[in-house]
This record gives sequence, structure tokens and C-alpha cells, in this order.
Amino acid sequence: MQRIFLKGIKGGTGCTAIVANLACVLKKSDVHVIAIDLDPKSDLGLHFGLPWKNTQGWSDAENFNDILTCFYQDSDGIIFLPHGEKTPSNTALNELIDNCNKLDNIQNTWVLFDCPSHIDISNYTLHEDDIVIELVNCDAVCHSLIYRRLQKLKKTENSWHHFFLVNRYNSSSELEFDLFSLWQSTLPLMAPFFINSDEVIKESTAYRNVALNCAPYSIANDDFETLAGWLVSKTAL
Ligand SMILES: Nc1ncnc2c1ncn2[C@@H]1O[C@H](COP(=O)(O)OP(=O)(O)OP(=O)(O)O)[C@@H](O)[C@H]1O
Ligand SMILES: [Mg+2]
Repeated sequence: MQRIFLKGIKGGTGCTAIVANLACVLKKSDVHVIAIDLDPKSDLGLHFGLPWKNTQGWSDAENFNDILTCFYQDSDGIIFLPHGEKTPSNTALNELIDNCNKLDNIQNTWVLFDCPSHIDISNYTLHEDDIVIELVNCDAVCHSLIYRRLQKLKKTENSWHHFFLVNRYNSSSELEFDLFSLWQSTLPLMAPFFINSDEVIKESTAYRNVALNCAPYSIANDDFETLAGWLVSKTAL
């Protein structure tokens, strides 16, 4: 099983959109993928066509057997688990994450977790094969946050693979170009590419869907394929 935890370094960096789009691109490449919403906002299901009225999810369940009844499958065959309405304890969160190993009935399942930006990732029990991707936008706030995060990562004994990935990159902005170049040349742990800002992502969300289905030849979908390919290469190492 390959577990990938995606979170924003701050709110609104585009984490949920990336989890959903990455899940679909991986599925298209025949990776068995499950997407799990760890964010109490519970908005991951929106990208998979889950109706608004379906508010229940894993946090409302009593135990893992009940959680198994909370999974959905969308029309593309993506399996996903909505968060639900209750606020879980840290223990319940970690139990879910641990129990996900039981879902690995098809060899090498990938589990993508949509994590809330406010969570300290070290609250989760992570293993050395886990990958954490922290989403950033090319702006001054993220610039400062990345430096602080790097300091913290240095101090904690994290065994997982941690990367920063730029989302919503605006290629016509001089500031974004400068920041991206600076980060690439001076910071460790930066993914060597970015996800462009593309209206397709917003539009496909409005259709409760993903770029692959709404605009397969878009820049957005190319970027998600790059991300998927890069992750596959990382896990093969
Ligand atoms: N690369 C992108 N280009 C254009 N729009 C994007 C991009 N990525 C995300 N968005 C849009 O930005 C908005 C916020 O995205 P999303 O909800 O995925 O962020 P988030 O990091 O999960 O937010 P939160 O911290 O509240 O959970 C959505 O409207 C989404 O469609
Ligand atoms: Mg989100």
C-alpha cells in the first residue's frame, strides 16, 4: 500500500482539488486508488459527484466495520470515503489511517488522504514509506511559511518523505516566477514542477467532476499527469 497525505501549508491552496484530480489520473493509469477525506469540511465528495444531502461519512461511524459501509464509488470507479459531520478525536483519526492497511486487498493500493491545512502532520502516525505533499501557492505568505515549516521538519524526527508542491501557478506573474525560481534553487524538498492556475479546475469542480473528464486536453490535466508520473517514479525508488 502506498499512502499519500496531501495538505495545504495554509487554507485554500487547492489541496482537495488536487486529491480528486490526482485520484482520477492515477485510476486512468490502472493504479488502484482510494481517496479519503480527513478534513471536517468534508468537501472531497463534491469532486466525485456526491449529492449535497449525503453528509454522512467515516467520522459518524462507530467502528471500522461501520466505516466500510461509508465508502462510495463514483461513475469512473474511484472509491472515496467522505469525512462526515462529527469532529473525530485524534485517536479516531489515527485508527482510521492505520485500519486503511486492511483495504489493501488489491496489491499496491494507493490511498490519498485529503488533510486539513490546520493539522500538524506529525499528529498522524506516519511510516517511512508515506509521502506527504504540502501544497503552496507562489506568494509571500507561503514563502514565510515554507521556511518555518523547514525549520520545524529539521527539528522533528520525521521519517516520511516530505515535499512541497506549488499549485495555482500564474506564469504571467513576475513575482511568482521569481519566487518559484528562488525556491527551486535554494530550498530542499521542492517538487521540480508546478500545477498551473487553470480555470478548468474551477469549472470541473462546478460540474462536480475533475479535469480528466471535463477537459482531458487541458493544461490542468497535463499537470496532474506530470504529478502522477512523478509520484510513481518516487515510489519506485
Ligand atoms: N490550479 C488551480 N487553478 C485554478 N483553480 C484552482 C486550482 N487549484 C484549486 N483551484 C480552485 O481553488 C479553490 C479552492 O480549492 P480547494 O477547495 O481544493 O482548496 P483547499 O486547499 O482544499 O481548501 P481548504 O483549505 O479550504 O480545504 C477551488 O475553487 C478550486 O477549484
Ligand atoms: Mg480542502
